[in-house]
Amino acid sequence: MFQGRLKVVSYKIADESLVEKGKEALYIAESKMPVTAKVIRERFSKEKPLEGIKIAGCLHVTKETGILVRTLQAGGAEVYLCGSNPLSTQDDVAAALVKEGINVFAWHGNTSEEFYWCIRKCLEAEPNILIDDGADLIVTAHKEFPELIELGKIFGCQEETTTGVKRFRAMEEHGALKVPLFPVNDARCKNQFDNELGTGQGILAAFIGMHILFAGKNVLIAGYGHCSSGMALRARGLGSNVTVTEVDPIKALQAKFAGYNVMPIAKALPHADIIFTATGCKNVFTKEHFPLLKDGVILGNLGHFDVEIPSKDLYEHAIEVKPLRKDVEELTFPDGRKVYLLAQGRLANLVLAEGHPSEIMDMSFALQSLISEYIMKNKDKLKPGIMKIPEHIDNEVGFLKLKSMGIEIDELTEEQYNYIHGYEEGT
Ligand SMILES: NC(=O)c1ccc[n+]([C@@H]2O[C@H](COP(=O)([O-])OP(=O)(O)OC[C@H]3O[C@@H](n4cnc5c(N)ncnc54)[C@H](O)[C@@H]3O)[C@@H](O)[C@H]2O)c1
Repeated sequence: MFQGRLKVVSYKIADESLVEKGKEALYIAESKMPVTAKVIRERFSKEKPLEGIKIAGCLHVTKETGILVRTLQAGGAEVYLCGSNPLSTQDDVAAALVKEGINVFAWHGNTSEEFYWCIRKCLEAEPNILIDDGADLIVTAHKEFPELIELGKIFGCQEETTTGVKRFRAMEEHGALKVPLFPVNDARCKNQFDNELGTGQGILAAFIGMHILFAGKNVLIAGYGHCSSGMALRARGLGSNVTVTEVDPIKALQAKFAGYNVMPIAKALPHADIIFTATGCKNVFTKEHFPLLKDGVILGNLGHFDVEIPSKDLYEHAIEVKPLRKDVEELTFPDGRKVYLLAQGRLANLVLAEGHPSEIMDMSFALQSLISEYIMKNKDKLKPGIMKIPEHIDNEVGFLKLKSMGIEIDELTEEQYNYIHGYEEGT
């Protein structure tokens, strides 16, 4: 473990010698993220909208996050970074970012205690903007660093993922949310691409460790939301017979009309060769369902927390747990059946592979960059509570992304604008 202060950079990472490998990863992401890495960064470098402030990010430490923090740094911010999942940190990227002056407290495989130690290190720096993925950073700020909020040191916060936004909505309902919070996940440029396409493709990435053929397999997808509908589509595209389980009647109807089998989990489990969860809920199935699991079934989760698949109960029930490949375990049940658990039930696309493709994260992180700027410009006006994502920022990211792909679209004429915003013209 490497810890220290490099010029004015504080850090604790796994292995400083991985710098060159990390630089290579960042180089690959740069060219695939033209909006964040080029257009916004070039403007930020000139205008310095984040000059003099500190930003703390609790994010998956991937090459794409590296591109975001480079852009925030180019805008003038001093950046602190910790991981948003104990297993998703790419140690090579962490090493490269430290060399670039980012204060990184993250390493792959940290314990729950170490995870919160890293979060505290970021908060001890007294950041002005918090960028979260799952709500752990901002909730810790409320619990353990209330003075940052009371003294107005925190200007505004952002939350990247569905589960985090849900936690903040619950906090707001209980009157416990004390900071202005931008739910970036609500932006169209986030959830319609990051969740659907990113997590959809993640199903493939998650299977690197098992290297199986999807064609002909019975794949059970729990949920038919943004992430899970993308996953169902990709699994079907690979030739699988896909069954969806849901608790929302409308989502279940959508799945049925999209051509999937829809049924309760207890009916689906005995047929499933592969089970994927992305519901944001806990215990999608329980230990009572273990007798229904097929011998050889592969279990993977892409939801934010490791609570969707009952991993703890699986480990307790197993008479043998054998590590197979990196982050894949074979669990043997007392009756001899084997199940294969990916990433200990944590986000399999980020643990077994590198998370969402860079092209997708370009939009999510362009939003984070522009909302950081927005927070700075409007800090005196922002009130505690959940903010609306400014529509002009969402649209700007959409236009910039299209432009970067060389795509032009039509613009409304004044007549068309007045028509769709008016009521007088009818039959
Ligand atoms: N792995 C990643 O890279 C990644 C990326 C984005 C989001 N996420 C996470 O994935 C999860 C899902 O996010 P989303 O944006 O798709 O949310 P969503 O709200 O759009 O979809 C969740 C769906 O699951 C259904 N559901 C809830 N409980 C269920 C249960 N017990 N059984 C079956 N279905 C159930 C809901 O009705 C809903 O349709 C969240 O935890 C989110 O934070 C992960």
